[in-house]
Order: sequence, then C-alpha cells, then structure tokens
Amino acid sequence: MRSLDKIQLKHKKIIYRADLNVPLFDGKITDYSRINSIIPSIKKLINNSNKIFILAHFGRPKGKVDKKYSLKFLCKELKVLFNQEKIHFLDTFENKQINNKIKEMKEGEICLFENIRFNPGEENNDLSFSKSLASNFDIYINDAFSASHRNHSSITGITNYLPSYAGLCFKKEIDNLDKFLDNASKPNVAIIGGSKVSTKIKVLENLVERFDSIIIGGAMANTFLVSNGFNVGTSLVENDYVDLSKKIQQKAKLKKCKIILPIDVVCSTGLKDKNIRKCNIKEVFSDQMILDIGEKSSKLISEIIIKSRSVLWNGPLGAFEYSPFDKSTIEVANQLKKYSNELKIDTLAGGGDTLSAINKAKAKDAFSYLSNAGGAFLEWLEGNQSPGFIALKENRL
Ligand code: 3PG
Repeated sequence: MRSLDKIQLKHKKIIYRADLNVPLFDGKITDYSRINSIIPSIKKLINNSNKIFILAHFGRPKGKVDKKYSLKFLCKELKVLFNQEKIHFLDTFENKQINNKIKEMKEGEICLFENIRFNPGEENNDLSFSKSLASNFDIYINDAFSASHRNHSSITGITNYLPSYAGLCFKKEIDNLDKFLDNASKPNVAIIGGSKVSTKIKVLENLVERFDSIIIGGAMANTFLVSNGFNVGTSLVENDYVDLSKKIQQKAKLKKCKIILPIDVVCSTGLKDKNIRKCNIKEVFSDQMILDIGEKSSKLISEIIIKSRSVLWNGPLGAFEYSPFDKSTIEVANQLKKYSNELKIDTLAGGGDTLSAINKAKAKDAFSYLSNAGGAFLEWLEGNQSPGFIALKENRL
C-alpha cells in the first residue's frame, strides 16, 4: 500500500477522503477526534501547494439531499483548524462546477464537498460516478480508515481511476491495529464488552487465537453465562448464540486463551430502577437483570491488567449510559490510566462507546493508541482487511 508518508505530492489536484462523521449534540460537535485526525495529512498537502478537495459523509441520508445531514457546518471548523482565509464549498459533483472551482482556488487552499452520501452513486459504488469524479483530479488519498469497511464509490470505486495513497491517519490506524493483533507484547488481554454477542462473535473467534486472555463483559457476557448454566434472571440474552458461546469457550481452551466472565454483578429490575442489588453470579434473582459487573470482577480485571504487557479494549462492561451502571467501565478506564504509563503497558481502544467511557474517565492520555473507527475497528479485529485497504493495496495506477 502506498502512503502519503513516503511521498511528496506537489502542485497536484488532490481528492482526499476523510471521515468527518462527527458526533453532535444540540448542534455542537462533542468529539473532535475525527476532525483532528486529518490535520497531519492536510497540513502536509497544504505545505506542498496542492489544491485539496475533501470528500466526506455525514450520517446516513440514503442517497438523497437532506439538509439535516449537510456538511456545510464544518467549513468554519476547517477554516480555523487550517488557518485558511476561506474554505471553499461545493454542493455538487458536476464536473463543470468542479473545474471552475479548481480554477478559482489558489494552491494550498481547501474545498469541502457536500455530503457524498447525498449522491446515490456513493453507496451503490457506481463506477461511472467514481470515474467522473476522478477525472477532475491527479491523485486520490484515503484517510478515512473508519469508513473503509464500506464498499462505496469514494472508498473503493475511485481507486480504479486514480493513483491512490493512504493518508497519514489511515496508515497510523492500520499500523497500530496490526501491532496489537500480530505483534502484541505478551501476556496480552482483550477486554470485550457491549450488548450483543452476535455483533462480536467473529471478533472473539479471531481474538482467541491471538490473546492469552479475553475478559467478556456487558450484556454479551449474559449469553456466555447462560451457556455455562447460570441463571441470569430477566437479563438480555441472545438465545440463538448460546451454543456458539459454548463453542467459543471450547476453541479458547484449545488455543490456551483464558476466557474470563463476571464472578459478581450489579442487578436491578430495569435501567431506570436505582434500587440496585449486588450479588455473586450464582445469586441473580429471577425477576432482576444484570446491568453491570460487580466489584470482585472489576478487581479481577485490574489484577489481569497489571500482569499484562498489552491490553486491547472494545465495548463497555455494563449499561454505562445509565449511572450507576457505568461504574465498572469507568473503573477499567481508571485502572488503565493508573497503570499503563507506570507499568509500560501497551493499550489500544476503539469504538464509540468505549471512547465515550474513556472520555468520561478523562483517561485518554493513558492509551498508546485510540482508534477513531467503530465498525471498521471491529471488522479489523475480526481479521478482515477492509475493502478500502484492499483497494489501496491493489492500486497500480
Ligand atoms: C462510522 O461512524 O463508523 C463511520 O463514519 C462509518 O459510518 P457508517 O456506519 O454510516 O458507514
């Protein structure tokens, strides 16, 4: 795969794919990680006098123009971030307007395209759309690892028509994920949480081959607990995955990977019922549900973290959006904050909920690497190279 770190592109017309799908609350950006991730590549391109056209998506407008998903609001952010007099904006992908814009722009300037998903050709990976768009530019750069699990026109299709490079952020994501999956310092542990085993079954199948232990938390642990014969009351359980959970544990045993499930839990009758009960995993009442792992389990996790040389984390361990069921997730973030620097433990985390928990615990600095990717992160953990990565790797133009 060719990447921007190995090449000086000068005076070129660049089409640059970013992931600017940022979280908003009340119209305000709540996390700037994805915006900040494009800084190194864009600065390099500005300094080398290129004309830069940024392609990005926002939300899922399903191929139709929907003002709610407009990217225009990002112009003012980019203007400040890159110290530009103005950020050009194009709400069309018509070649005539693109060419006029190219003529109007000075070298080192940036133009942001409107949400690429307003065009139906994007998600259908319509090659005529990719080809037409590409015809205006010299080089394509993909810096959106977090969107590269999508086989879309601006991710894969376009690489058929332009010399294509990975951006600096894309390269960093891949290098870090590979380091944790293939060359992790041992002993290593993966902490995997979240609500559904079904979305992480392939991740677990892949990780048991690579990790010394896997800690399973969140509601997905319930399905594993049921497969081991425990009563989990009214907890969320995916009955169709009980057998698979058993099989994962058998495979783990063969691969000498230790699976660690909660030994105690925090229960209640529902998410809003603050009348909580803490108990041993064998003592869950039939009319209660498990909403977080308990203190003994958290202590056990902490002991494993201390003995590990590398830790990978994806997914909260309890219903962390609802206090007090966020306790164990915040505690893990705090433990990593406390020990990772002191004991030189390599730490990698990814996924939206995990990053929110890390932010909540103000533990960002404790991590060797935080991935910006959600779905793409999970697919990489499954052992699948993303379509966007393969397209870059195979590009010979
Ligand atoms: C993400 O938020 O994970 C990426 O931007 C991809 O978005 P998508 O899931 O809508 O394709």
